Amino acid sequence: MDVCVLGSFAVDLMSVTPQLPLPGETVLGQSFHMGAGGKGSNQAIAAHKAGAQVQLITKTGRDTFAGFARSTYAALGMDTTYVYQDEHAATGTALILVQAGSGQNSIVVNPGACMHLQAQEVERAASVIQSARVFLTQLETNLPPVWQALALARAKGIPTILNPAPFQPLDDAILQQVDWLTPNETEAGLLCGFPVCQVEQARRAAEALRARGVAHVVITLGEKGLFYADAQQAVHLPAAYAGPAIDTTGAGDCLNGALACALSQGCTPLEACRFANAAAALCVTRMGAAASMPSREQIERQLQL
Ligand code: RIB
Repeated sequence: MDVCVLGSFAVDLMSVTPQLPLPGETVLGQSFHMGAGGKGSNQAIAAHKAGAQVQLITKTGRDTFAGFARSTYAALGMDTTYVYQDEHAATGTALILVQAGSGQNSIVVNPGACMHLQAQEVERAASVIQSARVFLTQLETNLPPVWQALALARAKGIPTILNPAPFQPLDDAILQQVDWLTPNETEAGLLCGFPVCQVEQARRAAEALRARGVAHVVITLGEKGLFYADAQQAVHLPAAYAGPAIDTTGAGDCLNGALACALSQGCTPLEACRFANAAAALCVTRMGAAASMPSREQIERQLQL
């Protein structure tokens, strides 16, 4: 197995609207989409479609939306051994507003069952965490299982990637369990205590995060691409262009999943960042989160442009 992902599943309920409503305002939507989402699941699907063998550890309820999760994984041919079901909590949902034209979004996640992962469920998955080539996780579930899984991966020397989304403060003890940290501009700014909007600010933030013990930092910069830093290099990769941005939902997830896939298959850090950058460029040209993850063939074609 190449990549093991621990994280959330949610059903995304998306409205495209000419402008995002202000508090108290009602606006008419242009279209509605329902699809698979949740950062963990999106990242697992991105890695799977990019060509990795993937195991996902997540949790749904026992409701209609849980069936939606299972049929999504079945259609993709993904294993669901570690897709746990909670007896009481509802399957996660996300309410997403997408601004027509820019593709920018606002998201409210109701993680539901994802907040009820149990220590023994992580323990049951220890063999897949510890036999992966890369372990990838985020902060959209309850946090103790995240720390537990990072420690399990670390104990066997499995490279770990933490996508610190949605933002939570992280202490140095956690960061020292992380080989790759992949914040976006907002998360990097909150982690570092200064705004990260420009490439030079991303360089400073990457250095600050490396000083806290993370060997590899990737800061995603939206339409400006990404900034990568390790002990040898600090590089800005401008965003690839695959067409106009329709919907940015899941673009960061796509980047993380593709990055994990490339690293698990032996790419150098910069090769992996280029692969991930190309995948994210394709993702924003399509509607939806899981539905917009590109295939390996599409990413390779994009890399040749
Ligand atoms: O990162 C995008 C994802 O965030 C969406 O799919 C939504 O479900 C939320 O988890």
